[in-house]
Amino acid sequence: MSAFHDERLGYPIVVAQNAVPNATRAIRARACPFIVLCDDNPNVVTLARRLTGARALLRFRLGEPNKRMSELERVLGALARAGADRSTLVVGVGGGVASDLFGLAAALYMRGVAYMHFATSLVAMADAAVGGKTGVDLPAGKNLAGVFRDPVAVFAHVDALRTLPLRSVREGLAEVIKVAILRGGDLFESLEELAAHPLWAWPWPSIIASAVAIKRDIVAADREEHGERALLNLGHTFGHAFEKASGYRITHGAGVALGLRAAGLLALRVGRFSRLEHLRVLTLLSLLKMPLRTSVVPRDAFDAMRNDKKRRDGALRFVLPNAIGDVSWGVRATPDAVLRTLALMRSVPGPQG
Ligand SMILES: NC(=O)c1ccc[n+]([C@@H]2O[C@H](COP(=O)([O-])OP(=O)(O)OC[C@H]3O[C@@H](n4cnc5c(N)ncnc54)[C@H](O)[C@@H]3O)[C@@H](O)[C@H]2O)c1
Ligand SMILES: [Zn+2]
Repeated sequence: MSAFHDERLGYPIVVAQNAVPNATRAIRARACPFIVLCDDNPNVVTLARRLTGARALLRFRLGEPNKRMSELERVLGALARAGADRSTLVVGVGGGVASDLFGLAAALYMRGVAYMHFATSLVAMADAAVGGKTGVDLPAGKNLAGVFRDPVAVFAHVDALRTLPLRSVREGLAEVIKVAILRGGDLFESLEELAAHPLWAWPWPSIIASAVAIKRDIVAADREEHGERALLNLGHTFGHAFEKASGYRITHGAGVALGLRAAGLLALRVGRFSRLEHLRVLTLLSLLKMPLRTSVVPRDAFDAMRNDKKRRDGALRFVLPNAIGDVSWGVRATPDAVLRTLALMRSVPGPQG
């Protein structure tokens, strides 16, 4: 039984404890040849085999360092060697790296073939597989080459979380907390209650379904990020800067968690948000064992941020909370306000938050 089945983005998104039967039916229903691309992780391969029986799988060793052009070329070459043509359905199995990379390969192969994603990580289930953003990293930065292209269906197989490394669970949790702050209300309150319980005991299908529904609504209103889809970058401007300035020792999930605190601090500094709500976010982050401070040198983070921004018009703009459940995008901040915020990030929260 699925916890969530929605087609408002024009393709089914299914969240289910066991999504194997749903995905298998969807593949059969298309009555066309298909090829399965999967992340080489043994647990992911086992799942991909369950999905397709004994048929051939194309396996790729993924992870962020392989989310790049050379790997994309390998995937495209493998599709060609496997005889894929315009009628072939490509099924990707794996986490967010798989959905970004395989989704891009399917979008490019013969100018685009149908793509379905079977999500096996929390990031992919709650975030990456939904919304049609595909891409690879370039040496100059993350996700710099990609296209918007919708999949034909997305399946979140919640059982897969059982084998997911804790680090990957935390990365996904940071994105879930992000959308909970964007929307406020039920999801945020559920996370506050659940924070006292061990992760294995969480009602994951409903948590993932809530996160997906929030992302779906934002994406539906602005598919190609001309405006409000930027809300989904809450915590990411600071987060990416911490990741980059730390030489990527800080993972994306940790960066986003730090970024959520920094966005709250900057919001307070520019006269938005309330201290009480900021402390509520900090309490949630800390109960979920997310990092709250970083030793990254403020100037290094600031320079990383500015280099990133050069690609737009050079102004420092942020996604900042006004309240939990009310967030603005495109808010300008002065270099001084940003540097002071970064300085606070070196210490654990004090009276200023
Ligand atoms: N397109 C978007 O909208 C969007 C949104 C958020 C994140 N992303 C991208 O997602 C990527 C991060 O995704 P991720 O955290 O899933 O990374 P990932 O795909 O690298 O998966 C993390 C690790 O978990 C392993 N794994 C996956 N499923 C598993 C399972 N069920 N059991 C055991 N191991 C498993 C993978 O092999 C990998 O080692 C980043 O590249 C990020 O840019 C994209
Ligand atoms: Zn993110």
